[in-house]
Amino acid sequence: MKCSHPDCTGVHDNTQALLRSSPEGATEYVQADLRDTELILERAADLLDFGQPVAVMLIAVLHLIQDDEDPWGIVARLMDAVPPGSYLAISHPALDVHHAQSTIQKVYDENVSTPQTLRTRDEVARFFYRAGPGGAGTGAGPPVAARPE
Ligand SMILES: C[S@@+](CC[C@H](N)C(=O)[O-])C[C@H]1O[C@@H](n2cnc3c(N)ncnc32)[C@H](O)[C@@H]1O
Repeated sequence: MKCSHPDCTGVHDNTQALLRSSPEGATEYVQADLRDTELILERAADLLDFGQPVAVMLIAVLHLIQDDEDPWGIVARLMDAVPPGSYLAISHPALDVHHAQSTIQKVYDENVSTPQTLRTRDEVARFFYRAGPGGAGTGAGPPVAARPE
């Protein structure tokens, strides 16, 4: 990731602890709703150099965006705004790994204010559709498969 600030390493979404810049690089914090992609991109451009590829990391957050809020459109707007060669990393709880998952999720959702939307492998793979034919592909799979011993 290349940033316009000489010491920049990235823009993080979620933790005050990461606000501390260090000799290794600068960080920035944006308080924003993921659905407000315009604001996020505008604020990110204050620090990141969008003339170079960047990494967009949506870690454990897209399941908090429901289908009717169009999470695929959100990801598309973010990836449309970043330069070619940029990376997209997603972690997302699965719907089709454990057969009891949807039942457990229903009970969970009845007890929280923000329901979670678990998704199938195909639904998660659709977030990466911009890779297209001949693209890098999704590499979608459980974390253990992505980190063989
Ligand atoms: C499971 S945590 C993951 C946090 C972080 N990405 C990580 O991996 O440690 C989900 C986070 O998403 C945030 N969140 C929920 N809905 C959001 C939304 N619409 N826009 C931005 N953040 C949201 C929650 O406040 C929470 O901090």
